[in-house]
Amino acid sequence: MLFDTHVHLNADQFDEDVTETIERAKEKGVTEMVVVGFDEKTINRAMELVESYSHLYAAIGWHPVDAIDMTEEHLRWIEELASHPKVVALGEMGLDYHWDKSPKEVQKEVFRKQIYLAKKINLPIIIHNRDADQDIVDILKAEGADQVGGIMHCFGGSLEIARMCLDLNFHISFGGPVTFKNAKRPKEVVKEIPLEKLLIETDCPYLAPHPFRGKRNEPAYVKLIAEQIAELREMNYQELANQTRINAKKLFGIT
Ligand code: NI
Repeated sequence: MLFDTHVHLNADQFDEDVTETIERAKEKGVTEMVVVGFDEKTINRAMELVESYSHLYAAIGWHPVDAIDMTEEHLRWIEELASHPKVVALGEMGLDYHWDKSPKEVQKEVFRKQIYLAKKINLPIIIHNRDADQDIVDILKAEGADQVGGIMHCFGGSLEIARMCLDLNFHISFGGPVTFKNAKRPKEVVKEIPLEKLLIETDCPYLAPHPFRGKRNEPAYVKLIAEQIAELREMNYQELANQTRINAKKLFGIT
């Protein structure tokens, strides 16, 4: 049984075949998934999906690339929706220095406000980090994010950064890149994460694992990611699948 902790089944790419996609995942043993919404449209669609499928859960937040568009009303709306029993985390949120649509200072402010909200309503947070390792760690520390903890989503950083995040009560989640032939760092780092802090995800429709790299990703492929990680850690696949599922259920408070 597998828990895919980060899917975007709410993306346009799944408009035509979301039911079939969820069915294919089931056939591969995917028993739970978290649908992540990060703006008005994707949050609304995530809520529709979790109402329709009993094994889907939602995370809702505001993406750093679009930080400049987030208003106080959006934040209040997210807070209201978060009381829904199937909303299990806030996010994705964080910093993205690759794209320059939103200035860094605006991104930081929007990130801080969401951490503050997560602490207020006691939900874990899902972190998006692109080219912003140190600023992410500094903000998590300064804002006391260890109080709620959460997930470093699709982790691609160094072991040093991973250890700082573990110290801050965060889980480390790996996705498709850990299967790429040229992805040296994630392959090394994934071996060093304590098993009880390890999570798996597809981030579909993005970042499809080998041998589907460049194609549309889907939750069924989380099995390929789990198999690769089990092999790298030289451990039994079933044990890896079960423990990452237990970790996710515990973090998200799913019984
Ligand atoms: Ni994502």
